[in-house]
Amino acid sequence: MTRSLTDGFGRVHRDLRISVTDRCNLRCDYCMPEDGLTWLPRSELLTFEEVERVAGILVDRLGIRSIRLTGGEPTLRAGLPDLVARLARLDVDLSLTTNGTTLDRLAAPLVAAGLRRVNVSLDTLRRDRFEDITRRDDLDRVLAGIDAALAVGLDPVKLNAVVMRGVNDDEVVDLARFGRERGVAVRFIEFMPLDASGRWDRDAVVSQDEIVAAVDAAFPLEPPRRGSAPATVWRYRDGRGEVGVVPSVTRAFCDDCDRVRLTAEGAFRTCLFATSETDLRSLLRGGASDEVVAEAVVRSVDAKEAGHLIGQPAFIRPRRSMSQIGG
Ligand code: GTP
Ligand code: 5AD
Ligand code: SF4
Repeated sequence: MTRSLTDGFGRVHRDLRISVTDRCNLRCDYCMPEDGLTWLPRSELLTFEEVERVAGILVDRLGIRSIRLTGGEPTLRAGLPDLVARLARLDVDLSLTTNGTTLDRLAAPLVAAGLRRVNVSLDTLRRDRFEDITRRDDLDRVLAGIDAALAVGLDPVKLNAVVMRGVNDDEVVDLARFGRERGVAVRFIEFMPLDASGRWDRDAVVSQDEIVAAVDAAFPLEPPRRGSAPATVWRYRDGRGEVGVVPSVTRAFCDDCDRVRLTAEGAFRTCLFATSETDLRSLLRGGASDEVVAEAVVRSVDAKEAGHLIGQPAFIRPRRSMSQIGG
């Protein structure tokens, strides 16, 4: 029997984000410290069988309808197409968020395994700046990865650009133009306090209003559309696609949140900013039945907080950085 994953505020959760590794081959300044983090040993990662089991329980019993694989960088997990094939058997919208550096090689096997769409992170089109932000000289690999994703028919291909004051805020129009020319939707993301280096401050956030004003001045936009996804979306008036903004800081969308998360080591989280989590791995490895695992998930969602408190005195940074939670 399927019941819905409804929290104490009446929000129904249908979207599951699964991090498959905490590793990454980039070191984005807004996400990881320069010398990296200590990676989880392999034995601590959920196996593909365990991930498949949790996903199956959430889909079959608890009404999850979409699954997104994230990291770290998910394509660094050996055998990822095998996991995609397992999850593609579930009746869900299956997608992947990646930094794009390996798509050149992996786009085709991922599609063959059943992946349909992909979101690629790209914050700049300038080689020197890419290296400053990510501490790796890999812009060309990401651009090749985007081309490969388009060539194998992943649809849609979306680009995520985190906009940071004084870092890449002068590239909003260039990135929007790039998206229009390649036929990919760019989504600009407000910088959130999830950086491992703890450098976030309110002044570094470039707001949705600023971003949209810049794009609209160059390429006029129709009025926005707000769906259940975190992005607000605008169509270009000339019909050449659309552009989005994820306004996590200036217009928190927590009231509409329909997401839950599973970390690479099997911790179930109800919010990016949650300060507590439920250890499903111990249940799985301790021989718990599907019913017991489902009950633990239901209890966790029931206790979900109203929303994040970014910018307010009561805000507590989560212990984990974005790469350890899974964007
Ligand atoms: P689709 O629109 O379905 O393609 O998915 P998505 O936007 O959730 O995918 P993606 O992983 O590309 O997320 C885009 C960005 O939204 C992430 O980089 C995060 O910065 C932000 N984000 C994702 N989920 C949440 C969330 O639950 N809360 C907040 N505040 N931000 C989120
Ligand atoms: N604020 C906003 N977005 C972030 N991401 C990583 N760190 C942050 C942050 N501090 C985004 C990445 C990627 C996704 C997984 O999360 O750019 O698109
Ligand atoms: Fe890696 Fe993504 Fe974090 Fe960048 S944002 S360091 S690509 S996990």
